[in-house]
Amino acid sequence: MTNYTIFGNGNMATAIAGVLTKGGATVEHIGSEESATATINGDVVILAVPYPAVEGIIANHKAAFAGKNIIDITNPLDFNTFDSLVVPVGSSATAEIQAQLPESRVLKAFNTTFAATLATGKVGDLSTTVLVAGDDEAAKTALITDVNAGGLDAIDAGSLKRAHELEAVGFLQLTLAASEKISWTGGFGVIK
Ligand SMILES: NC(=O)c1ccc[n+]([C@@H]2O[C@H](COP(=O)([O-])OP(=O)(O)OC[C@H]3O[C@@H](n4cnc5c(N)ncnc54)[C@H](OP(=O)(O)O)[C@@H]3O)[C@@H](O)[C@H]2O)c1
Repeated sequence: MTNYTIFGNGNMATAIAGVLTKGGATVEHIGSEESATATINGDVVILAVPYPAVEGIIANHKAAFAGKNIIDITNPLDFNTFDSLVVPVGSSATAEIQAQLPESRVLKAFNTTFAATLATGKVGDLSTTVLVAGDDEAAKTALITDVNAGGLDAIDAGSLKRAHELEAVGFLQLTLAASEKISWTGGFGVIK
Protein backbone atom coordinates (compact mmCIF):
# COMPACT_ATOMS: atom_id res chain seq x y z
CA MET A 1 0.00 0.00 0.00
CA THR A 2 1.45 3.35 -1.03
CA ASN A 3 1.17 6.46 1.11
CA TYR A 4 0.74 9.61 -0.95
CA THR A 5 1.16 13.22 0.08
CA ILE A 6 -0.70 15.50 -2.30
CA PHE A 7 0.07 19.22 -2.32
CA GLY A 8 -3.23 20.93 -3.09
CA ASN A 9 -6.90 20.48 -2.31
CA GLY A 10 -8.30 21.55 -5.66
CA ASN A 11 -9.97 19.81 -8.58
CA MET A 12 -7.05 17.61 -9.58
CA ALA A 13 -5.91 16.86 -6.04
CA THR A 14 -9.41 15.67 -5.18
CA ALA A 15 -9.85 13.62 -8.35
CA ILE A 16 -6.43 11.96 -8.08
CA ALA A 17 -7.00 11.20 -4.41
CA GLY A 18 -10.28 9.55 -5.37
CA VAL A 19 -8.54 7.24 -7.83
CA LEU A 20 -5.69 6.35 -5.49
CA THR A 21 -7.83 5.71 -2.41
CA LYS A 22 -10.19 3.58 -4.50
CA GLY A 23 -7.14 1.44 -5.27
CA GLY A 24 -6.26 1.10 -1.60
CA ALA A 25 -3.59 3.78 -1.23
CA THR A 26 -3.63 6.28 1.62
CA VAL A 27 -3.62 9.99 0.82
CA GLU A 28 -2.92 13.09 2.87
CA HIS A 29 -3.38 16.59 1.49
CA ILE A 30 -1.28 19.64 2.22
CA GLY A 31 -3.07 22.92 1.51
CA SER A 32 -1.49 26.22 0.68
CA GLU A 33 -1.76 27.62 4.21
CA GLU A 34 0.21 24.77 5.78
CA SER A 35 2.43 24.23 2.76
CA ALA A 36 5.57 25.92 4.06
CA THR A 37 5.82 24.05 7.34
CA ALA A 38 4.02 20.73 6.79
CA THR A 39 5.70 17.40 7.46
CA ILE A 40 5.81 15.11 4.43
CA ASN A 41 4.56 11.69 5.54
CA GLY A 42 3.97 10.13 2.14
CA ASP A 43 6.38 7.88 0.27
CA VAL A 44 5.22 9.55 -2.93
CA VAL A 45 4.48 13.25 -3.38
CA ILE A 46 2.06 14.66 -5.94
CA LEU A 47 2.34 18.33 -6.86
CA ALA A 48 -1.33 19.12 -7.66
CA VAL A 49 -0.77 22.87 -7.64
CA PRO A 50 -0.33 25.56 -10.28
CA TYR A 51 3.16 25.44 -11.78
CA PRO A 52 4.22 28.79 -10.28
CA ALA A 53 3.61 27.33 -6.78
CA VAL A 54 6.08 24.49 -7.34
CA GLU A 55 9.17 26.65 -6.86
CA GLY A 56 8.18 27.60 -3.30
CA ILE A 57 7.25 24.02 -2.42
CA ILE A 58 10.66 22.81 -3.58
CA ALA A 59 12.39 25.60 -1.67
CA ASN A 60 10.64 24.49 1.52
CA HIS A 61 10.80 20.72 1.11
CA LYS A 62 13.79 19.83 -1.07
CA ALA A 63 15.48 17.82 1.69
CA ALA A 64 12.27 15.96 2.58
CA PHE A 65 11.71 15.10 -1.10
CA ALA A 66 15.10 13.37 -1.41
CA GLY A 67 14.67 9.66 -2.11
CA LYS A 68 10.95 10.01 -2.89
CA ASN A 69 8.96 9.69 -6.10
CA ILE A 70 7.59 13.13 -7.04
CA ILE A 71 4.65 13.35 -9.47
CA ASP A 72 4.34 16.58 -11.46
CA ILE A 73 0.88 17.06 -12.96
CA THR A 74 1.23 20.68 -14.01
CA ASN A 75 0.44 22.28 -17.32
CA PRO A 76 2.86 25.23 -17.20
CA LEU A 77 0.88 27.63 -19.36
CA ASP A 78 1.42 31.33 -19.65
CA PHE A 79 -2.09 32.19 -18.44
CA ASN A 80 -1.66 35.84 -19.46
CA THR A 81 -1.52 34.96 -23.15
CA PHE A 82 -2.80 31.36 -23.27
CA ASP A 83 -0.38 31.11 -26.18
CA SER A 84 2.78 29.49 -24.83
CA LEU A 85 4.34 27.53 -22.03
CA VAL A 86 6.54 29.23 -19.44
CA VAL A 87 9.27 26.57 -19.43
CA PRO A 88 12.33 26.85 -21.72
CA VAL A 89 11.67 25.77 -25.31
CA GLY A 90 12.32 22.04 -25.67
CA SER A 91 12.23 21.46 -21.92
CA SER A 92 9.31 20.70 -19.61
CA ALA A 93 8.12 21.57 -16.14
CA THR A 94 9.00 18.03 -15.13
CA ALA A 95 12.56 18.31 -16.43
CA GLU A 96 12.97 21.64 -14.63
CA ILE A 97 11.69 20.05 -11.40
CA GLN A 98 13.93 16.98 -11.82
CA ALA A 99 16.94 19.30 -12.27
CA GLN A 100 16.08 20.97 -8.96
CA LEU A 101 15.52 17.62 -7.23
CA PRO A 102 18.42 15.41 -8.34
CA GLU A 103 17.89 13.07 -5.37
CA SER A 104 14.21 12.47 -6.23
CA ARG A 105 12.59 10.45 -9.00
CA VAL A 106 10.34 12.90 -10.82
CA LEU A 107 7.51 11.73 -13.08
CA LYS A 108 5.01 13.50 -15.31
CA ALA A 109 1.48 12.14 -15.00
CA PHE A 110 -2.17 13.19 -15.03
CA ASN A 111 -1.59 16.42 -17.03
CA THR A 112 -3.43 15.15 -20.12
CA THR A 113 -6.57 14.05 -18.25
CA PHE A 114 -9.08 16.64 -17.09
CA ALA A 115 -10.15 16.25 -13.46
CA ALA A 116 -13.69 15.27 -14.43
CA THR A 117 -12.41 12.36 -16.52
CA LEU A 118 -10.36 11.07 -13.60
CA ALA A 119 -13.46 11.18 -11.44
CA THR A 120 -15.76 9.41 -13.92
CA GLY A 121 -13.14 7.09 -15.42
CA LYS A 122 -14.43 8.01 -18.86
CA VAL A 123 -13.53 10.27 -21.78
CA GLY A 124 -16.66 9.95 -23.84
CA ASP A 125 -17.07 6.22 -24.36
CA LEU A 126 -13.39 5.50 -23.72
CA SER A 127 -11.74 4.59 -20.46
CA THR A 128 -9.65 7.41 -19.03
CA THR A 129 -5.96 6.69 -19.59
CA VAL A 130 -3.23 8.33 -17.52
CA LEU A 131 0.01 8.90 -19.43
CA VAL A 132 3.18 8.65 -17.33
CA ALA A 133 6.71 9.75 -18.27
CA GLY A 134 9.98 9.71 -16.39
CA ASP A 135 13.39 8.12 -16.24
CA ASP A 136 12.84 5.77 -13.28
CA GLU A 137 11.18 2.54 -14.40
CA ALA A 138 10.28 1.38 -10.89
CA ALA A 139 8.66 4.70 -10.04
CA LYS A 140 6.56 4.56 -13.21
CA THR A 141 5.55 0.96 -12.60
CA ALA A 142 4.51 1.77 -9.02
CA LEU A 143 2.33 4.70 -10.09
CA ILE A 144 0.78 2.77 -12.98
CA THR A 145 -0.02 -0.10 -10.61
CA ASP A 146 -1.76 2.25 -8.18
CA VAL A 147 -3.69 4.00 -10.96
CA ASN A 148 -4.80 0.64 -12.37
CA ALA A 149 -5.88 -0.45 -8.88
CA GLY A 150 -8.03 2.69 -8.78
CA GLY A 151 -9.82 1.59 -11.93
CA LEU A 152 -8.11 3.69 -14.63
CA ASP A 153 -5.86 2.68 -17.47
CA ALA A 154 -2.30 4.00 -17.50
CA ILE A 155 0.49 3.87 -20.07
CA ASP A 156 4.23 4.33 -19.69
CA ALA A 157 4.72 7.10 -22.24
CA GLY A 158 8.50 6.98 -22.10
CA SER A 159 11.43 8.80 -20.58
CA LEU A 160 11.54 12.17 -18.87
CA LYS A 161 12.08 13.70 -22.32
CA ARG A 162 8.49 12.74 -23.22
CA ALA A 163 7.19 15.11 -20.55
CA HIS A 164 7.76 17.79 -23.18
CA GLU A 165 5.26 16.12 -25.51
CA LEU A 166 2.80 15.43 -22.68
CA GLU A 167 2.87 19.11 -21.78
CA ALA A 168 2.25 20.02 -25.43
CA VAL A 169 -0.79 17.72 -25.45
CA GLY A 170 -2.01 19.17 -22.15
CA PHE A 171 -1.50 22.70 -23.46
CA LEU A 172 -3.47 22.03 -26.65
CA GLN A 173 -6.27 20.29 -24.76
CA LEU A 174 -6.54 23.24 -22.35
CA THR A 175 -6.76 25.79 -25.15
CA LEU A 176 -9.50 23.74 -26.82
CA ALA A 177 -11.52 23.57 -23.61
CA ALA A 178 -10.93 27.20 -22.70
CA SER A 179 -12.22 28.23 -26.14
CA GLU A 180 -15.23 25.91 -25.72
CA LYS A 181 -14.35 23.72 -28.71
CA ILE A 182 -14.36 20.72 -26.37
CA SER A 183 -15.81 20.33 -22.90
CA TRP A 184 -13.99 20.06 -19.57
CA THR A 185 -15.55 16.59 -19.21
CA GLY A 186 -14.07 15.50 -22.55
CA GLY A 187 -10.62 15.76 -24.07
CA PHE A 188 -8.23 13.40 -25.80
CA GLY A 189 -8.85 9.69 -25.39
CA VAL A 190 -6.52 6.75 -25.94
CA ILE A 191 -7.39 3.54 -27.79
CA LYS A 192 -4.85 0.75 -27.35
N1 LIG B 1 -8.12 20.88 -13.75
C1 LIG B 1 -7.72 20.00 -14.63
O1 LIG B 1 -8.54 19.32 -15.27
C2 LIG B 1 -6.24 19.78 -14.86
C3 LIG B 1 -5.86 18.79 -15.77
C4 LIG B 1 -4.50 18.51 -15.94
C5 LIG B 1 -3.55 19.18 -15.20
N2 LIG B 1 -3.96 20.17 -14.33
C6 LIG B 1 -2.92 20.84 -13.52
O2 LIG B 1 -3.16 20.46 -12.18
C7 LIG B 1 -2.71 21.49 -11.31
C8 LIG B 1 -3.84 21.81 -10.33
O3 LIG B 1 -4.95 22.23 -11.09
P1 LIG B 1 -6.42 22.27 -10.44
O4 LIG B 1 -7.34 22.36 -11.58
O5 LIG B 1 -6.56 21.21 -9.43
O6 LIG B 1 -6.35 23.69 -9.72
P2 LIG B 1 -7.24 24.21 -8.48
O7 LIG B 1 -8.54 23.49 -8.43
O8 LIG B 1 -7.23 25.69 -8.60
O9 LIG B 1 -6.38 23.76 -7.22
C9 LIG B 1 -5.09 24.25 -7.00
C10 LIG B 1 -4.74 23.88 -5.59
O10 LIG B 1 -3.36 24.23 -5.36
C11 LIG B 1 -3.31 24.73 -4.03
N3 LIG B 1 -2.06 25.42 -3.83
C12 LIG B 1 -1.59 26.55 -4.42
N4 LIG B 1 -0.35 26.82 -3.96
C13 LIG B 1 -0.05 25.84 -3.06
C14 LIG B 1 1.06 25.56 -2.23
N5 LIG B 1 2.16 26.34 -2.24
N6 LIG B 1 1.02 24.48 -1.43
C15 LIG B 1 -0.06 23.67 -1.40
N7 LIG B 1 -1.16 23.89 -2.16
C16 LIG B 1 -1.13 24.96 -2.98
C17 LIG B 1 -4.54 25.58 -3.92
O11 LIG B 1 -4.82 25.89 -2.58
P3 LIG B 1 -5.55 27.29 -2.23
O12 LIG B 1 -6.89 27.23 -2.87
O13 LIG B 1 -5.56 27.25 -0.75
O14 LIG B 1 -4.68 28.35 -2.79
C18 LIG B 1 -5.56 24.59 -4.52
O15 LIG B 1 -5.96 23.64 -3.56
C19 LIG B 1 -2.30 22.65 -12.20
O16 LIG B 1 -0.89 22.68 -12.34
C20 LIG B 1 -2.95 22.35 -13.54
O17 LIG B 1 -2.22 22.86 -14.63
C21 LIG B 1 -5.27 20.48 -14.15
